[in-house]
Amino acid sequence: MEVNMSQNISQNSNQNATTSVVGTAASRKDGRAKVTGTATYAAEHQLSGLVHGYVVTSPIAKGRIRSINTTAAAQAPGVIAVYTHQNSPQIFKPANNWMNSKIYEARLPLSDDQIHYAGQVVGMVVADTLERARHAAHLVQVDYEPQAPQVNARTANYQPSPPWFGEDFTFNSGSFSTGSAEVTGIEAQIEATYTTEMELHAPMEPHATIAHWQGKDAVTIYEPSQYVLLTQKTYAELLGLAVERVRILSPYIGGGFGSKAFPWPPSILCAAAARDLGRPLKVVNSRRQMTANAGHRSETEQTLKLSATAAGKLVLIEHLAKSCTSPVDVFPEPCTIVTPVMYAAPNIRLEQQLAVMNVGTPTFMRAPGEAPGMWALESAMDELAWTLKIDPVQLRIMNQTQSHQRKNLPFSAKQFTECLEQGAERFGWQGRSPEPRSQVSPSQTQDDLLVGWGMAAATFPGYRGATSAKVRLLPDGTAHVLSSGNDMGTGAYTVVGMTAADALGLPLNQIRVELGDSLLPDGGIAGGSQMTASLTPSVALACQEVLKAAEATTAAAAFEKLRQTGRAAFEATASTAPGEETKQFAFNSWGAHFCEVTVDELLGRLRITRWVSVMNIGRVLNPKTAASQVRGGIIMGMGQALMEECHFDPNTGFPVVYDLATYHFPAHADIPRIEVAFVGEPDLNFNPMGVRGVGEIGITGVAAAIANAVYHATGKRIRSLPILPEKLL
Ligand code: MOS
Repeated sequence: MEVNMSQNISQNSNQNATTSVVGTAASRKDGRAKVTGTATYAAEHQLSGLVHGYVVTSPIAKGRIRSINTTAAAQAPGVIAVYTHQNSPQIFKPANNWMNSKIYEARLPLSDDQIHYAGQVVGMVVADTLERARHAAHLVQVDYEPQAPQVNARTANYQPSPPWFGEDFTFNSGSFSTGSAEVTGIEAQIEATYTTEMELHAPMEPHATIAHWQGKDAVTIYEPSQYVLLTQKTYAELLGLAVERVRILSPYIGGGFGSKAFPWPPSILCAAAARDLGRPLKVVNSRRQMTANAGHRSETEQTLKLSATAAGKLVLIEHLAKSCTSPVDVFPEPCTIVTPVMYAAPNIRLEQQLAVMNVGTPTFMRAPGEAPGMWALESAMDELAWTLKIDPVQLRIMNQTQSHQRKNLPFSAKQFTECLEQGAERFGWQGRSPEPRSQVSPSQTQDDLLVGWGMAAATFPGYRGATSAKVRLLPDGTAHVLSSGNDMGTGAYTVVGMTAADALGLPLNQIRVELGDSLLPDGGIAGGSQMTASLTPSVALACQEVLKAAEATTAAAAFEKLRQTGRAAFEATASTAPGEETKQFAFNSWGAHFCEVTVDELLGRLRITRWVSVMNIGRVLNPKTAASQVRGGIIMGMGQALMEECHFDPNTGFPVVYDLATYHFPAHADIPRIEVAFVGEPDLNFNPMGVRGVGEIGITGVAAAIANAVYHATGKRIRSLPILPEKLL
């Protein structure tokens, strides 16, 4: 197909086969800086005169503040200021429309005396040290008038879900239906309800902000941000400044997963208070504060009905999905987003419902919608396969759809069958003894362990956004690539460098990459698994443009010109964006997971002993960093499947987990070797690099693959996550 001419990048100009870097397993460019501690994260910046803020949070989940006494806190040693809703620093209401600005949550910090959830920010103490600020924060006396909170998702009041920003901005409500009211040809059917628990954001780096004002009308903000230029625009609106007066620095992010896409209340308060104080101010979330002030993934309840012919062809898919939001913003977990993508059926009925609870505001978390959606859909497909006595791999192959059934567009470069077949082959699926409880493994201390094999599909949309990148050729023989886009641990520094290396015909170590600074051209968002697909086309084009600017055919010739003429640099900036192809194709990445579990029924102990995943993501720019993304997603999926949950005290509404000891997630000993392979061709309909996203697909389908293996091992169908030991006894 034809693509926009300006994006028509020739991959192999200025290089020969021996210099190709793209496609090799290059190690991370930022790896050494990270392991030696020279990579500076937001909270680590040393500024002279820096003071420390510690937020005061609500112990009640609903009600109002009757009064606050700050006298003791203000008189404590080292205290510089105490803020409450009665003396909040000035914060302006942003448009909050995704284009000019976006915050979670919509309610501004300290805007009134109302309490909507436990952990809500009700004040902040600033002192000369962190310890003194924290101590004084505990001296703030707040008199609350509590009301009974709603913190039980099972008894919440669900309504049809309002619109959600999502798939190409077109996922209006999650409700969709096609086909007829009278469905005929049903010879087999399953209907079941699947639940997930609330999952908390727990990146290694907790949220942190340093705000450093230059006078009252310009500020530099050090904050981990997955979307540097929108964060810049958002702070400009919150602080009443021109956009150019705000600089965001986010060169390194210690994990984001969606929680660092937009500023949260403690950071906003930090920026506003720093202006008020005229001092650089640092605010770091404690782990406990992260539970309510960094977003989470809502619990979900999904009912799936799958109806099929005796031969296994689907005739009806019905999917009702429920999730919860906070009283102060709207975030439906869009589980039904995957349903029209995965399997063909003449009749499809989707519905999303949402309830309000007294919890912090939910937000994006790795594969929002797709992760819980695929848990339900891929569990249901397994149940149908058992009902029909059809191999679950075959059931998926025969029911896959070649078009996106809501968009009515054909998928580009889809190699889902290859994922399933190659995964089955690598795992040895054909050696499966199909009956539940039919495979055992000897144990030295107990009765035999039950062994189960399970599989599930994976998918994630191919998103791409408009980006720009600048490339400079310098007399020292290096090329410098600059963009505000960032690397939240994904490998962006590396793949950006590799793209430039090939486009310029240079070795990777002659490419310097600078990311995560709002002074640089708009690199787009590290979210929706789109940074690589969005940014690398601009990098490749800018490399071509800089050679044109140098009137040189090779980088070596351009460097020679610089040395001969004494010029400082050749420089070019290029921009790329999606075009007409989004009206001709639907873009998704595809995959298949195969796993083995052992279950000790005496102890309820489950171990994951083997894992094979095969992914189809278009061109694989770097098999090492891409496989690491998939592994990270799978490990996060194992947490969702087996461990992660946040419950609330029904009386106080306070979360009963609050740190990395009480919130369980997988550690190394829980994880087997994870084999990851890639199949398929470059998706050149999608972008000139042919690459789709890989950041989120890994988590999708993981929980279902495990639950399906548990069924095979034990004959027990577990429909509620996490699969805790007591559910296996
Ligand atoms: Mo992701 S949930 O798009 O950071």
